Amino acid sequence: MDKPTSKLLCGDAVKCLETLPAGSVNMCVTSPPYYGLRDYGVDGQIGIEQSPDEYIARLVNVFDEVYRVLADDGTLWLNIGDSYAGSGKGPMTISANGKNKDVFNMQNRIYEVPKKWSGIKPKDLIGIPWMLAFALRAHGWYLRSDIIWHKMNCLSESIKDRPTKCYEHIFLLAKAPHYYFDYKAIQEPLKEVSKARYKRGRGNGNKYATQQGISNPTKDFAHFDQQYRRKRDVWEVSTNSYKMDEHFAMFPEKLIEPCILAGSKIGGVVLDPFFGSGTTGAVAKRLGREYIGIELNERYVQKAQERIDKVIPEITTEIGTNPAVKNGGGNVAH
Ligand SMILES: C[S@@+](CC[C@H](N)C(=O)[O-])C[C@H]1O[C@@H](n2cnc3c(N)ncnc32)[C@H](O)[C@@H]1O
Repeated sequence: MDKPTSKLLCGDAVKCLETLPAGSVNMCVTSPPYYGLRDYGVDGQIGIEQSPDEYIARLVNVFDEVYRVLADDGTLWLNIGDSYAGSGKGPMTISANGKNKDVFNMQNRIYEVPKKWSGIKPKDLIGIPWMLAFALRAHGWYLRSDIIWHKMNCLSESIKDRPTKCYEHIFLLAKAPHYYFDYKAIQEPLKEVSKARYKRGRGNGNKYATQQGISNPTKDFAHFDQQYRRKRDVWEVSTNSYKMDEHFAMFPEKLIEPCILAGSKIGGVVLDPFFGSGTTGAVAKRLGREYIGIELNERYVQKAQERIDKVIPEITTEIGTNPAVKNGGGNVAH
């Protein structure tokens, strides 16, 4: 693979991706602008399209290019949240304005959207994450996992007719059915109580026996690496581990650490076409990976570079400082 060194490109995601050689990055982790949620203040931004379908189509164009620049065994880790069709409440505020139009207010701009979207009523949860996941699957991606990011510290919503939303998705998508995935790098320490339970084995009619020696403990325990269990697909991570004045939608460093550890080797190349404050670059550098960041807003590019410049790598050799990496770095599931 023709390996680029870390770099930051300022411009539209599709246009910048087109300048990268095919197969030149190992993985992509990213969080696109969510639909109708924020105004990033730049022409050409994604997220303010006239309809969900148009928004999905733009993102599919971006991820078609990501597919091209990914290595054949590469993965895409895609963090995406949902949006509600405007009801006059919440972030997608639509207020009446004329007979056939509603107005879609976002901070300092006003966008007009058609009053009706096909099949979606005001107040409906749009289902953006799955619309996108299915569209990408139809474009050749293998949809491998729907990881739930449970936001441990999410704020209560003022809305009174549904529960507060406290999760987002991270879809794991692969370019091919067999791909690089270092499950050992992200496995979790097994609790003492679980070890004891697995060792006891299975009993008649019970999932796990309550007394020693009822069934075959070795067989039951063989699924586990003794001290560790496979990482599960609900990740409990608090929001905002790093604060930057102007950027409002950063993902936490802790959220993407496992993605980078499982999706790339030390020295591998990590791509983020919606770089924002540069979280992906900061974590990639800390974990001894290269990064390529793309961001439309010039000011964010400058801030991201300043942030990354301050990062001191924790892993610089083949054997890292992360105990899980030491234990199993380079183990690939095919
Ligand atoms: C949700 S934020 C990403 C935040 C990032 N994960 C972080 O931790 O800081 C999405 C970013 O995409 C950028 N963006 C919007 N439209 C874009 C486009 N067409 N091409 C590239 N970047 C774009 C926005 O300026 C914003 O910084």
